[in-house]
Amino acid sequence: MSALGETGRATTPALQTTGLVKRFGGLVATNDVTLAIEKGARHALIGPNGAGKTTLINLLTGVLKPTHGTVALAGKDVTRLTPHQRARRGIARTFQINQLFLDMTPLETVTLSAAAAKGRAGVWWHGAARETESVERAGALLERFGLTDVMSTRVSSLPYGKQRLLEIAVAIASEPSVLLLDEPAAGVPEDERHEILAIVESLPKEVTVVLIEHDMDLVFSFADRITVLVSGAVFTEGTVAEISANPEVRRVYLGEGDA
Ligand SMILES: Nc1ncnc2c1ncn2[C@@H]1O[C@H](COP(=O)(O)OP(=O)(O)OP(=O)(O)O)[C@@H](O)[C@H]1O
Ligand SMILES: [Mg+2]
Repeated sequence: MSALGETGRATTPALQTTGLVKRFGGLVATNDVTLAIEKGARHALIGPNGAGKTTLINLLTGVLKPTHGTVALAGKDVTRLTPHQRARRGIARTFQINQLFLDMTPLETVTLSAAAAKGRAGVWWHGAARETESVERAGALLERFGLTDVMSTRVSSLPYGKQRLLEIAVAIASEPSVLLLDEPAAGVPEDERHEILAIVESLPKEVTVVLIEHDMDLVFSFADRITVLVSGAVFTEGTVAEISANPEVRRVYLGEGDA
């Protein structure tokens, strides 16, 4: 709670955890994770399957409550806030397995998200459609994401790569200060991956981005800082140069070869 002292104020991280622990019965999925993610960072979270990456994201967004420890967003303790309350304070995420309203269209979905960001969370599609500003913003975002030609197609009939792009567009439409991407290209066929990678690379600079990803080429080209999680704990953290030269990290990744 008092993790932020006087000196912490000058450079308040966008997102910070202190002594975060999550137990599932006997399993320690998150083991004493203390992490600071600076404003505007491109921060990658890597680690073997089951290392606790998704669990950490769930603790950050409030989907899970920690067994111990705290989460702070822009210096404010949000540990007791619900996912919805945290979202209102600027945290957005995408899921490892996508979660969209399959019966809606991309234009409807992104417009709703843009309208909600303007404090009109109560509007449903018929209301949102009249919000010209939100519709225009949605249209511009969809164009940037290469989704204009499918903006009126039902989400359920979009190729999976487009659905994942849409998920990021929905998150960005909510004007987050922090965006958490959990394997945004997971399950996407090889020939559609490049579109997602290009979008991830071109996200607005003012948004702090945390990316979970197994593809090390992508991680190294995207990130300015990398945290390596192993068995729920921070194994090491550093710059791309430090992490890519770390023999232990190389052994874990080259040795396992799972992706
Ligand atoms: N709700 C849950 N109940 C019980 N155990 C869980 C739950 N969620 C995750 N776990 C366990 O916690 C550990 C960490 O899982 P997590 O999904 O966070 O790993 P991950 O690093 O995201 O893995 P992957 O790379 O496969 O996505 C695993 O052993 C997993 O089985
Ligand atoms: Mg995961």
